[in-house]
Amino acid sequence: MPQILDGNRVRDDIKNELRPRVAALAAQGRPPGLAVVLVGHDPASQIYVRNKVKTCQDLGIYSESLTPPDSISTGELLAIVGQLNARHDIDGILVQLPLPPQVDAKRILMAVAPAKDVDGFHPCNVGNLVANLPGPRACTPAGIIEILKRYHIPIAGKRAVVVGRSDIVGKPVAMLLLHEHATVTICHSKTPDLAAVCREAEILVAAIGRAAMLTAEFLSNGVTVIDVGTNRLDDRAEVARIFRNSAEKLASFDKRGNVLVGDVDPQDVVEKAGAYTPVPGGVGPLTIAMLMANTVASAERRAAVC
Ligand code: GUN
Repeated sequence: MPQILDGNRVRDDIKNELRPRVAALAAQGRPPGLAVVLVGHDPASQIYVRNKVKTCQDLGIYSESLTPPDSISTGELLAIVGQLNARHDIDGILVQLPLPPQVDAKRILMAVAPAKDVDGFHPCNVGNLVANLPGPRACTPAGIIEILKRYHIPIAGKRAVVVGRSDIVGKPVAMLLLHEHATVTICHSKTPDLAAVCREAEILVAAIGRAAMLTAEFLSNGVTVIDVGTNRLDDRAEVARIFRNSAEKLASFDKRGNVLVGDVDPQDVVEKAGAYTPVPGGVGPLTIAMLMANTVASAERRAAVC
C-alpha cells in the first residue's frame, strides 16, 4: 500500500507552529490582520472564504471579509484595494478569484501592495519567486513543497512532472520544485503523448482540473503523486464508474448529492503510487495553512519595519 500524505496532519502542524508567532505579535501590539475580498456569490468561493475566516479565528488572526456586489466595476474594486493597502492593521489582502468578467483581474492583482500580497500573485512577487528572492509564495504551491518536505520525500535530483500551467498552481509549483533542484517538466493539454511524459515522473503534480483524468497509464510504479484537483462529481453514474461502484462513495453521493475526486484516478493511484495526497484531505487543507503562514510572515516583516 502506498504512503498517504495526510494534508490535515501537516496543516495542523503548520497551524501549531504559527500560534506562538501570532501570540508574540499580539503581545507586541496587535495580532496579524487579513482582509478577504469576495465579490458576488460564487458558492465555491463562499466556502473557501468562510474556511479562511474560520482558520483566522482559530489562530487569533484578525480577519475582515468584504463582500462587494457582483456588479462592481474595476474602478470601485481598485478603490477598495487602495483603502486596504493604506490600513495599518491589515497585513494581508486576498482578493478571491475568479472575479466577474467586467472586472480587470490583472489590474486588481497588480493594485495589491506587494508587501500585503499574501497570495503571491503580484508580478513583483512572481519575480521574487523566479529569482528565488524572499517574498510571499502562492499558497497551494508552497503547501505542496511543505507536504513533500515534511514527509521527507527527496526532491533534489528527482524528475518532477507538473501537469497544468496555471498562474495559481502549475507555473509557481514548477519554479519551487526547480529551486529544490528537481528536473522539472511542465506539460498541458497540447503536450503530445502526455501519458509517456507523466510516466517519466518520480514526482507527479496533477493540476489540470479534470476529474480522474490521469489513469494507470500515466503513472510509473512508486511515483509520488500530488493531486491538486478538487472536482465535484454530481452524476451518480460517473461516481460509480470512477470509484468502481464503491458502496461508501455511492452512499456519500446519495447523502450529499456530490462527491469530490482529484485529477488522478483514485483506484489506479492506490495500485501504482509509492505515496500520494488523497482528495479530499491532501493538498486542499494546506492552501489555507500557507495563507495563514504568509499573513503571519507579512505581519512580522511589517512589525520589524514600523
Ligand atoms: N481561487 C482559487 N484559488 C485561489 C487562491 O489561491 N487565491 C485566490 N485569491 N483565489 C483563489
